[in-house]
Amino acid sequence: MSLQQRVIDAFQRKFGAPPAIVVRAPGRVNLIGEHTDYNDGFVLPMAIDRAAWIALRPRTDRRLVVQSLDFDQSVDVDLNQMTNTGPGWAEYLKGVAWALTDSGRQLEGWDGVTAGDVPIGAGLSSSAALELATARAFATVSQLDWNPAQMALLSQRAENKWVGVNCGIMDQMISAAGAAGHALLIDCRSLENQLVPLPPGNAVIVLDTATRRGLVDSAYNERRAQCEAAARFFNVKALRDVSVAQFEARAAELDEVTRRRARHVVTENDRTLKAAEVMRAGDAAALGLLMNASHDSLRDDFEVTNSALNVIVEIARQQPGCWGARMTGAGFGGCAVALVKAEAATAFDQAVTAAYTQATGLTPNVYICHASDGASVVP
Ligand code: GLA
Repeated sequence: MSLQQRVIDAFQRKFGAPPAIVVRAPGRVNLIGEHTDYNDGFVLPMAIDRAAWIALRPRTDRRLVVQSLDFDQSVDVDLNQMTNTGPGWAEYLKGVAWALTDSGRQLEGWDGVTAGDVPIGAGLSSSAALELATARAFATVSQLDWNPAQMALLSQRAENKWVGVNCGIMDQMISAAGAAGHALLIDCRSLENQLVPLPPGNAVIVLDTATRRGLVDSAYNERRAQCEAAARFFNVKALRDVSVAQFEARAAELDEVTRRRARHVVTENDRTLKAAEVMRAGDAAALGLLMNASHDSLRDDFEVTNSALNVIVEIARQQPGCWGARMTGAGFGGCAVALVKAEAATAFDQAVTAAYTQATGLTPNVYICHASDGASVVP
């Protein structure tokens, strides 16, 4: 049964009537442009065909009564007096309600049932998906204008300030503004964005290493601080303002670690802009090479891979029909992404699964992904 049908049926059971509205918002995979968003740089993610779903109907008393099928829990929240009782799935809903209210928007409450199929904790942005689905739900029942970039910023604010995770804008922006068949080139400073077609005849395949690292938050914040220090050295607002040539001219003056961190960000921005260009030209081979270079830079200079990611990327690159592969998301575990000829996708899945299991003893999850639309009200 589809997730859409599951949330509709569960809503009928819980509330004794069919829902008035169904919304969904997708997870994402980033093709290239990693650890660049918080440097005001460029990213090139796509929304995937896995999403958070909510079936709902408006209430008139400013309460939020929501059941999560994934967690088998319900919450009843008074929008007039919310407190953070986290951690947990409900904090994403409350956080978005808080950010929308704090921006001056007048919210109505709703009854809802939610479920999702973005794997949790894998680095595919299940939290951004839930945030944007929640924002869509509130926008619909409260008759708010739907501006994807504004809603992404408010959802990011919910995650930063309410949930307490210091993420950049990429995940919320692509969940809000993705489009079927396309990746989205996002300028993370201006939030200007352009759809970029996926090279025809190819599959985007996510490879979940089945490894997770606990201390992602502190390592992530440490990288952010190192990037800020490098930006101060170059006397710019963010590393986005440093070109490859400007970096090279002064790189020798930086200490070893700061130099490597900055080199990753500066070259990654350059690769991401090139990736959008070669995609527009339909050049899968060139895109694959840029993805490979991105991984090597994340492994050697930014140091956010782990051995599982390095192993799965090496295995992926050896397979027939694979143009390139890299880690995706924050790193330290989680997923890689590969660009593979469509006709080779099934054999690729089987071969990578077998070789990775043999090398590590772990069973990977392989998702052949289709680029989907951003947050939407389902007709
Ligand atoms: C996480 C964050 C994003 C981004 C990536 C790294 O997914 O949520 O904002 O910084 O890591 O590119």
